[in-house]
Amino acid sequence: MKIAPFETEHFFARYEFNTPYQLCNSDCESVSIAELLTLAGRSLEQFGRERLIYSDSQGHPRLRESIAAMYSRIRPDDVVVLGTPIEGIYLAARALLEPGDEVIVLTPAYDALINLFEHVVGSNQVKRWAFKAGENSWELDLEDLYGLVSSRTRMIVVNFPHNPTGHLPSAAFQKELADLAEEHGLWLFCDEMYFGLVHSGTAPLTSAADVTKRAVVLSGLSKTYGLPGLRCGWLVIQDETIRANIMNWKFYTSICPPVPTEFLAIAALDVREELKNRSITRIVRNLELASAFFDRWPELFDWRPPLAGSTALVGYRVPSVSDVAARLTAEEGILIQSAQMLGWDDQHMRIGLGRDGFAAALIRFENWLNRQAAD
Ligand SMILES: Cc1ncc(COP(=O)(O)O)c(C=O)c1O
Repeated sequence: MKIAPFETEHFFARYEFNTPYQLCNSDCESVSIAELLTLAGRSLEQFGRERLIYSDSQGHPRLRESIAAMYSRIRPDDVVVLGTPIEGIYLAARALLEPGDEVIVLTPAYDALINLFEHVVGSNQVKRWAFKAGENSWELDLEDLYGLVSSRTRMIVVNFPHNPTGHLPSAAFQKELADLAEEHGLWLFCDEMYFGLVHSGTAPLTSAADVTKRAVVLSGLSKTYGLPGLRCGWLVIQDETIRANIMNWKFYTSICPPVPTEFLAIAALDVREELKNRSITRIVRNLELASAFFDRWPELFDWRPPLAGSTALVGYRVPSVSDVAARLTAEEGILIQSAQMLGWDDQHMRIGLGRDGFAAALIRFENWLNRQAAD
């Protein structure tokens, strides 16, 4: 069965480890294992005592307890710890959908949130709920969504805070989504990988898992907590039958979470506020630099600052961002990502605000722009 190329991951696999100046990463600056252990008051000796056995397939009970404590209505039994966060999208698509079901997805989006659903239900069955360019921010219109729902719709796929626009809806908007899912018996697949990364004076949003039982929530430690190398993710599923079906699929993909990951994830969740605040501090700092930069180049860029998350979607008035990106990597060692990979157009780029290297990359990019302008 065919699946579209996962362009974002091909792009990062090719460039992430050989391009020194990166402007488009979605994760936040990470820490070393030693730093994490120190921060969480664990010793290397304790970590070393972990036996490399098969672990509890649904996830270590202590880890599921710590995860459940992040929500208000969720029990440890509702949590399925995954082998990797990305696995959760595949498992949910497999366990909740049949070929021919209709699915509504956000556009633009992290490619997996479109491609995996197209793979399972067929590309004609996947309807796009597109963001709109407001004056100062990216916006979603519920009326557009209502127009896409049909008797065959089985699932709505959302991602808040949103990669790449940085959109975070209001609680009232989230409630309308939940009501729609409940009234029509739809699943709301909510990718909350950037959960809690809230800044810019935006009101925080509760997890969809605490709002409706029709929500199947994906979350993890890669983005908000700056631990992508842990590969720790989980699904929150309150429906017992669906959970059992997801577990069955998971036995085919990862069986159980890795023991070293679970040890470190339990430690990380003990200090999750510190890790999250660290990420937010970096984003706020980089956001100031980005805003000042885009103010200096109003003719070239359309800047809609993110409300939350670690990414932003920026209009770039060039014939092809992909062509500019190819030149920048080859000539300047600078990495920018065209939004075309995210189901949008080639006149937008995604920027990532969570990394320490952002400032130096932005200076280098601006020097290049100045040289282009002078030519
Ligand atoms: C919206 C979204 N969901 C899921 C993932 C997958 O997370 P991970 O790479 O940690 O598996 C990403 C990663 O970029 C993402 O942006």
